[in-house]
Amino acid sequence: MCGRPPGQGLEFMGTSEPVEPDHALSKPPPVAPVGAQALPRGPAMPGIAQLMMLFLRPTEFLDRCAARYGDTFTLKIPGTPPFIQTSDPALIEVIFKGDPDLFLGGKANNGLKPVVGENSLLVLDGKRHRRDRKLIMPTFLGERMHAYGSVIRDIVNAALDRWPVGKPFAVHEETQQIMLEVILRVIFGLEDARTIAQFRHHVHQVLKLALFLFPNGEGKPAAEGFARAVGKAFPSLDVFASLKAIDDIIYQEIQDRRSQDISGRQDVLSLMMQSHYDDGSVMTPQELRDELMTLLMAGHETSATIAAWCVYHLCRHPDAMGKLREEIAAHTVDGVLPLAKINELKFLDAVVKETMRITPVFSLVARVLKEPQTIGGTTYPANVVLSPNIYGTHHRADLWGDPKVFRPERFLEERVNPFHYFPFGGGIRKCIGTSFAYYEMKIFVSETVRRMRFDTRPGYHAKVVRRSNTLAPSQGVPIIVESRLPS
Ligand code: HEM
Repeated sequence: MCGRPPGQGLEFMGTSEPVEPDHALSKPPPVAPVGAQALPRGPAMPGIAQLMMLFLRPTEFLDRCAARYGDTFTLKIPGTPPFIQTSDPALIEVIFKGDPDLFLGGKANNGLKPVVGENSLLVLDGKRHRRDRKLIMPTFLGERMHAYGSVIRDIVNAALDRWPVGKPFAVHEETQQIMLEVILRVIFGLEDARTIAQFRHHVHQVLKLALFLFPNGEGKPAAEGFARAVGKAFPSLDVFASLKAIDDIIYQEIQDRRSQDISGRQDVLSLMMQSHYDDGSVMTPQELRDELMTLLMAGHETSATIAAWCVYHLCRHPDAMGKLREEIAAHTVDGVLPLAKINELKFLDAVVKETMRITPVFSLVARVLKEPQTIGGTTYPANVVLSPNIYGTHHRADLWGDPKVFRPERFLEERVNPFHYFPFGGGIRKCIGTSFAYYEMKIFVSETVRRMRFDTRPGYHAKVVRRSNTLAPSQGVPIIVESRLPS
């Protein structure tokens, strides 16, 4: 899923350790030796300090590394192999188009196994990954989306109806509730409000587990034992109890549906249950559980974070907000924006894309190299991590004029090169939820802008902070709704 340092999949988490002073980056750059090979240069500061920088000042750190070392540099993360970040489109193309049995995305995600399980797309490589992706992918394609649209819009509008008028609140908390409910209803097909409420509680607990998913040298989660000990000592922090509770709900759902006629159901779980592998077999309950957890973990915090960033950027850019309002008004019929028209709103599309360019939810994606490879004159040894740097590439001045400026119009002008812009990763592992995420984010943004007049709390400026596994806006974007139209 998603942009990640080696072995961790879903980005690093924040800590309270002190950060190495900025002058550390200006030391003479060393060559990082691995055996007889020389890797691209990188910061001289100790690995723990690099880790802290990635936690506490991720975008600032990456900007400074790029300014000092260029497009491709090597980071040292304690307990992991050399971690090579690149914003060189030529190298990114090689990585994304490379043999997936050589560039291992699943191995790079091993640290997620305690949550998503052994059968998750995120941690699989090779034949199993291709087999499972082929089975799941159709449930997320094209026409399928339309079946989900009205449910998503209803969930968004019910939330907008609850937003207070005239009082500040953190919009990210709201988008998280919305996107979680979307996943539970559309992907899991849950309908019972009590079950959904239980689920919500346990998911929030499980997200805390990401804090403990540091990988060790073999890419296994080194701190899982620690997380278990914390849970025993403080039951309210027992993420494994929450995982068990979620598993119980999922297995019960699977069992219930096995005894029902689900042929007319459109939710992703029901569709996966009715799909067959090439040899005619179906997914086992354990496989279904692992993929559902994957979709849950990969699919709600991500969209929620981008939705919150969209709100922020629109508030900061009244000109863009004005253009979007005009576009929405032009497509609205009898007070409703028809879902079938959503993809005709070019400026809306550009706003969402520009948001993911300037503030991507993950700063990177990762592949572990299985065997040595010589690429562009550099020989990379086995087991290093090659990592397309999403943030760095999206902020290259030569690819994106004025990269620090929010300007949706740039996405109206030309086709996007997939090695210059890849918020959803790339190649055979590109995010399976790309169309779904665009669709739900567009519904959220268009309904919010159509129905609300809002602005950020006076004096608020977002900083990029780590939240769960994403690069999120600080304080959750406090906004004040000035007025609201009925849905
Ligand atoms: C704004 C929203 C989202 C963003 C930015 C995002 C981003 C990503 C990224 C960067 C990857 C890694 C791709 C790679 O390694 O090259 C990924 C993988 C994945 N994402 Fe998303 N994602 C989003 C929403 C979703 C949604 C809504 C779902 C499903 C409900 C989803 C399911 C997945 C899955 C299953 C994978 C693993 C694919 C594989 O390894 O084959 N994501 N996502």
